[in-house]
Amino acid sequence: MTQFEKPDTRPTRPTFSSGPCTKFPGWSLDVLRGFSPGRSHRAKPEVEKLHAVIENSRRVLGIPDDYKIAITPASDTGAFEMALWNLLGPRGVDVMAWEVFGQIWVFDIVAELRLPNVRVFESDFGDIPDLNEIDTDRDVVFTWNGTTSGVRIPDGDWIKDDRKGLTICDATSALFSMDIPWRKLDAVTWSWQKVLGGEGAHGMLALSPRAVQRLESYRPERPLPKLFRIAKKGKVSQDPFVGKTVNTPSMLAVEDCLAALDWAEKIGGAKEMMARSDANLAAIEEWVEQTEWIDFLAAEKKIRSNTSVCLKLVDPWFMNRSSEDHWPIVKAVEKLLGDEDVAYDFANHRDSVPGFRFWCGATVELADVRAVLQWLDWGYRTVRAQYQQEAA
Ligand SMILES: Cc1ncc(COP(=O)(O)O)c(C=O)c1O
Repeated sequence: MTQFEKPDTRPTRPTFSSGPCTKFPGWSLDVLRGFSPGRSHRAKPEVEKLHAVIENSRRVLGIPDDYKIAITPASDTGAFEMALWNLLGPRGVDVMAWEVFGQIWVFDIVAELRLPNVRVFESDFGDIPDLNEIDTDRDVVFTWNGTTSGVRIPDGDWIKDDRKGLTICDATSALFSMDIPWRKLDAVTWSWQKVLGGEGAHGMLALSPRAVQRLESYRPERPLPKLFRIAKKGKVSQDPFVGKTVNTPSMLAVEDCLAALDWAEKIGGAKEMMARSDANLAAIEEWVEQTEWIDFLAAEKKIRSNTSVCLKLVDPWFMNRSSEDHWPIVKAVEKLLGDEDVAYDFANHRDSVPGFRFWCGATVELADVRAVLQWLDWGYRTVRAQYQQEAA
């Protein structure tokens, strides 16, 4: 078998998954020492912790003071579906999708909520729909960063300041690493398990004053499960916005989230987190430039994600093979680097195109990104040589 020389430097942390994402540098189980097992989440100190998650997130992310923020069940999906089920109905809806999660929200709106007057704007993996076609006098549903295609919305300029509709944005793989124009967004969701490197389980929902007004003036005809009930008799319940969650949260996950927010503040807040992600993306850009067998899935530089960086294979040898071989080749490279303990979980999402995806959010160290790219080159060339020898 052809032997290529292994790179000298190993990433200090091989965890490149796009969720749950790698912990902040220096994380250990010690960060959980403030956890009080067996305390009720309704006890005063525990409610204070939940409220601290809300207010510390507001501070780090620069969320305006007049936005309400809640901790929700069921991670980002729970937060986003809570928004869709509560808010949509009184206006026509424009929904955009260009990868797996956007497609899920389209399904929710069209097949589950069965709303009339919906316009769906879809693009292939690697691209986004034409934002000029979106009418923000209707309600607009979209994902800021498409985690499974590595494509992001470049800005919020297409959203009118005096819009009549609500903008409902799944920003789970964008927040903390990308600058978000809060005043352009009415309902924004995220989870702790992405850029913060926290745990799954809980989501966050931020609501603009106009979104709150919608909740207080419109009651959907459809039944709402208890988990989604944040408004009662025309009034928004204050409880979820001060840490009194709808149902029981994991206080262990809360402790972990507080530690991550603490780390974020110590390194310089969202500004520094964005700079870290940008530097990670720049390292990949430099490497892709020099490496002939790989390219970005994102069609244009300005829509390239700096968190979920998705790459496609453009090697003629790969492209000329039957498409049935494509995933097995990608998976073989992933296994090889996993067996070496240099990188785990970096194949593209199973419903995306065969290729590689490296999480580059703020918790990922630049030196680790640089190191893993050398290993990827080694891994791909090794697997390709194996296939070529088998064919010979
Ligand atoms: C853009 C996007 N939306 C929603 C989700 C679902 O998130 P969760 O599993 O936190 O509910 C993910 C997870 O990767 C995502 O990337």
